[in-house]
Amino acid sequence: MMRGKGANDEFVFKDSSISLMRLLCFLILLVTGIMIGLTCSPHVDRYFYFTSPPDNFYVNYVSAAPPPSYSTSIEKAAKTVSFDYNCSSGMASCEKEDCLSMEGFKMPKNLTHKMTDNELFWRASLVPNKAEYPFERVPKVAFMFMTRGPLPFLKLWERFFKGQDVNKYSIYVHTNPGVRVNFSNYSVFYNRLIPSQDVRWGTVTLVDAERRLLGNALLDFSNERFVLLSESCIPIYNFPIIYNYLIGSTQSFLDSYDEPSRYGRGRYSRHMKPDIKLRDWRKGSQWFEIQRTLAIKIVSDTRYYTIFKRHCLPSCYPDEHYLPTFVNMFYGALNANRTVTYVDWSLGGPHPARFEAKDITKNLILSIRNNGTTCSYNQKNTSICFLFARKFHPSALDPLLNISSTLLGF
Ligand SMILES: *[C@@H]1O[C@H](CO)[C@@H](O)[C@H](O)[C@H]1NC(C)=O
Ligand SMILES: *[C@@H]1O[C@H](CO)[C@@H](O)[C@H](O)[C@H]1NC(C)=O
Ligand SMILES: *[C@@H]1O[C@H](CO)[C@@H](O)[C@H](O)[C@H]1NC(C)=O
Ligand SMILES: *[C@@H]1O[C@H](CO)[C@@H](O)[C@H](O)[C@H]1NC(C)=O
Ligand SMILES: *[C@@H]1O[C@H](CO)[C@@H](O)[C@H](O)[C@H]1NC(C)=O
Ligand SMILES: *[C@@H]1O[C@H](CO)[C@@H](O)[C@H](O)[C@H]1NC(C)=O
Ligand SMILES: *[C@@H]1O[C@H](CO)[C@@H](O)[C@H](O)[C@H]1NC(C)=O
Ligand SMILES: *[C@@H]1O[C@H](CO)[C@@H](O)[C@H](O)[C@H]1NC(C)=O
Repeated sequence: MMRGKGANDEFVFKDSSISLMRLLCFLILLVTGIMIGLTCSPHVDRYFYFTSPPDNFYVNYVSAAPPPSYSTSIEKAAKTVSFDYNCSSGMASCEKEDCLSMEGFKMPKNLTHKMTDNELFWRASLVPNKAEYPFERVPKVAFMFMTRGPLPFLKLWERFFKGQDVNKYSIYVHTNPGVRVNFSNYSVFYNRLIPSQDVRWGTVTLVDAERRLLGNALLDFSNERFVLLSESCIPIYNFPIIYNYLIGSTQSFLDSYDEPSRYGRGRYSRHMKPDIKLRDWRKGSQWFEIQRTLAIKIVSDTRYYTIFKRHCLPSCYPDEHYLPTFVNMFYGALNANRTVTYVDWSLGGPHPARFEAKDITKNLILSIRNNGTTCSYNQKNTSICFLFARKFHPSALDPLLNISSTLLGF
């Protein structure tokens, strides 16, 4: 039965392919004719759509045969390719303003955009095939702040960045929409808000915000390292030390470990099989610091993200498991499996210790910097395990500013 039907189809196909050939020949002749006619016509300037202003453009077009929809698709293409927001008035002004300029392509000038997450992740996942850059690429560290409201340690961070080479860092802030964060126009945080969406802690929206920060930061081709920070994070070294540590590292610092208890493996769901097995399952703090290669893999993942979104539900905490598990499964070799953001769990309980004004001493900072253990860094041992620390209460700001120049070095 099946074979008979197939043979029949093939026959019909052959028959129709003959008439298709005829039609094609006819079409080729027709198009050639039109082309000759157009080229000879004195009324049509071959370059009219590069020289005429937009209004005349439509008039010319209609009289010159091709369907008008073509013009809108050219304009659309010009808009999509261009990142210069003041270049939307049509072809004529685009040509003057060089919409395909390298400037806007290698680093968006304006972080505001209307891309959906899907569109953003697709664009962010594009990787140049050519090894050399046609510009001098100074690798940058992207500082990505995921906050609920304003930044209590804004003053400390501003001091941290003050006087540093602007070609070596970039800042991105994701706040809950509706929160008005009021950065003054002389701050390094001014105009660094990215288009955001609601984040509910403990849900997959937290992972969405992490990926949204990565996606936006990837649009700057000079960003090489990506560090995720919260409003309660502080730097515990100055910028040059942190920059050299991160840029010099061959690996990413993403916490990823196997936790046998119900707070680790206990959160695994059998529905994730066969794609994710229990032995793949990992846990880790969400406050990561990763390299560009890995950031691109993360925004490019749909399959595993979708499994987590579907099956890592309340009391699973996708933000503590998705990246540790995904990176463990495919990019373990790129990962140091530890975080560079210190947190104090020594008190026990579900929440880490929080440092308030009274806790801020020189010794606290020194003990965070070095508690006697060593960590591996590029296959060597180092006493510098942490570059950032959390969780700090807003009241800690003044005492921290007090010790920043002598102890922190900024
Ligand atoms: C377009 O942007 C350029 C610089 O990017 C600026 O010099 C020019 O004034 C802008 N034009 C308009 C119409 O805003
Ligand atoms: C960025 O673009 C948005 C809309 O495209 C515009 O409203 C905003 O003023 C621009 N910001 C800057 C600093 O140019
Ligand atoms: C923003 O901050 C400035 C001073 O830092 C203040 O004058 C202004 O009222 C603030 N605006 C809002 C909307 O909070
Ligand atoms: C910053 O804003 C103030 C008014 O809020 C304005 O007077 C000043 O010129 C602005 N500075 C810059 C560098 O844009
Ligand atoms: C981190 O874990 C991966 C397995 O996920 C392993 O392959 C890799 O060697 C580990 N990295 C270090 C520095 O121990
Ligand atoms: C030092 O810090 C590491 C990482 O937080 C921790 O595992 C270790 O127990 C600490 N050691 C001491 C002596 O406090
Ligand atoms: C690094 O330290 C570990 C112990 O923490 C030790 O076993 C290892 O030999 C050291 N490696 C190097 C290269 O010194
Ligand atoms: C700042 O430090 C000085 C001396 O080290 C001390 O007297 C002062 O109380 C400190 N201020 C705060 C806000 O901690």
